[in-house]
Amino acid sequence: MSTPLLATLMREGTLQLTALPPLALYVHLPWCLRKCPYCDFNSHEAAQGIDAQGSQAYVDALRADLEAALPLIWGRPVVSVFIGGGTPSLFTPEAIATLLSELRARLPLEPGCEITLEANPGTFERDRFRGYRAAGVTRLSVGAQSFSDAALRALGRVHDADQAQAAVEEARAAFDTFNVDLMYALPGQTLQGLAQELDRLEALAPPHLSLYQLTLEPNTAFARRPPELPDVDLASEMLDLLGARAAAGGWQRYEVSAYARTGHRCRHNLNYWEFGDYLGIGAGAHSKLSFPHRVLRQVRWREPRQYQQQAMAGSAVSNQHEVARADLPFEFAMNALRLRDGVALALFGERTGLPLSALQRGREQGLAKGLLRDDATRLQASDKGFDFLNDLQALFLPARN
Ligand SMILES: C[S@@+](CC[C@H](N)C(=O)[O-])C[C@H]1O[C@@H](n2cnc3c(N)ncnc32)[C@H](O)[C@@H]1O
Ligand code: SF4
Repeated sequence: MSTPLLATLMREGTLQLTALPPLALYVHLPWCLRKCPYCDFNSHEAAQGIDAQGSQAYVDALRADLEAALPLIWGRPVVSVFIGGGTPSLFTPEAIATLLSELRARLPLEPGCEITLEANPGTFERDRFRGYRAAGVTRLSVGAQSFSDAALRALGRVHDADQAQAAVEEARAAFDTFNVDLMYALPGQTLQGLAQELDRLEALAPPHLSLYQLTLEPNTAFARRPPELPDVDLASEMLDLLGARAAAGGWQRYEVSAYARTGHRCRHNLNYWEFGDYLGIGAGAHSKLSFPHRVLRQVRWREPRQYQQQAMAGSAVSNQHEVARADLPFEFAMNALRLRDGVALALFGERTGLPLSALQRGREQGLAKGLLRDDATRLQASDKGFDFLNDLQALFLPARN
């Protein structure tokens, strides 16, 4: 599928966006040393890593992908870049520097633009993180996942707890701001064990934490052969412990899974939750792009080799559709309500081009059920609504006829 003609996207439609949202860029690097048994991301095994030729060929495909997409975002400044995966730290600092200069040559990155790169413990040699910093990366996201050797083994990770700690220490030495991903409710995990992991994490003092409960995703090795996991009550006690320890340590929970010290919120992810725009390039990447009268979603070819061939031929996009007017209130609410402080109601009109009345039914029901805060200027979950977020979000689904 080739990029749609701009004239088609600019034609009249039922939405009236008065201004286009901030635009972020996501770049997907789809390889990992080994596929983790719980992972349903678009990641493919490359046991030997990525050599110089392989990374150059992929960067060439990304450049071709971006060039074909440029007419859709012409002249718009880019507020943040996120290089995710997969395991981007399989790419050398030189390859990341080349990638960033290709991006800079074609896109106006805003001054001070946040540029995050995901890095996995056990996938790099010493001083690689400084190399990423020198290449222009401003923020690292370290996939530590756990500080228990037993849990890391059960998760099929390629690293142990000491390597996770070493990666976080190296991130701290090279970057002013960085994130640590941690999962909980892991096979064999106890409350006491989690508390000990948190001791270790707190000593490393990451400015940002992403805390995810392990979920069994369809089409993963864990879905086929589920490990024994902590039950619902224990998982909820674990979340309470995480919340209490994060609050005591100065990390504010600003989104369902995201906790930050002052000044360290992730701008890139905030843009998703505030229903901003993003261009996603790379294998399987998703995009959301707004035009004055419509919102377009795109997906790129998922399998890396096929993606590379298609991108070089100018047709990296495998699927695209215009978001139906009736679906926009739910899509907006699904994102915005993940934020602890919600969003200003005025943002709804700005981002969707719809009148506020399109949110009315969901707001009334949310207020009646005590799931929304009673505030005429904001869309924000109450404490109860934050605990029962799926129920709250579902109130904004289109009415069934
Ligand atoms: C895009 S993934 C990959 C990041 C990086 N490759 C890594 O594994 O360290 C981002 C994060 O999602 C989380 N994640 C992945 N699969 C998950 C699952 N099944 N349940 C909960 N969290 C998951 C992990 O914490 C992971 O670091
Ligand atoms: S390293 Fe990360 S992206 Fe790769 S398979 Fe494991 S969880 Fe998925």
